[in-house]
Amino acid sequence: MECLPVPYTKYVSLSVGSFVKIKGTFVMPFNMNPELQVDFLTEAEGNENIAFHFRVYCDNHVVMNSRQGGNWEEEVSTSVISFEDGQPFELGILVLSTEYQVTVNGHQCYTFPHRIDPGSVKMIQVWRDVSLTSVTVT
Ligand code: GAL
Repeated sequence: MECLPVPYTKYVSLSVGSFVKIKGTFVMPFNMNPELQVDFLTEAEGNENIAFHFRVYCDNHVVMNSRQGGNWEEEVSTSVISFEDGQPFELGILVLSTEYQVTVNGHQCYTFPHRIDPGSVKMIQVWRDVSLTSVTVT
């Protein structure tokens, strides 16, 4: 299957009800700690703010955070890893009125409260140790 370039960036406009779906595969086994990073950026370039940062360390944890004025804010970390070693993943991020709701392969796994208006998000970036087959926003 044809793959998207990584880092992959996409201009988006988000509102309550928007659903971001990312399909891909980790390029290494989990004992090599492949990572996945998704950022919802409020500006396309420059010292952008990050409304939602989602970073997976496959060997042991997932980190979520936001960044404003060049500074990371309060980090949320969880040891729940819902991705499966050697299997393609489907990561979903649903924009609710108060939070992002994250699903992995259809299972709801993580939530992150809005600190920055999702309506100000301009771009989504997906990167690190993954190959990507699709990134869609509906
Ligand atoms: C840092 C990491 C950043 C970001 C941040 C979130 O340790 O280098 O990429 O994940 O934590 O709090």
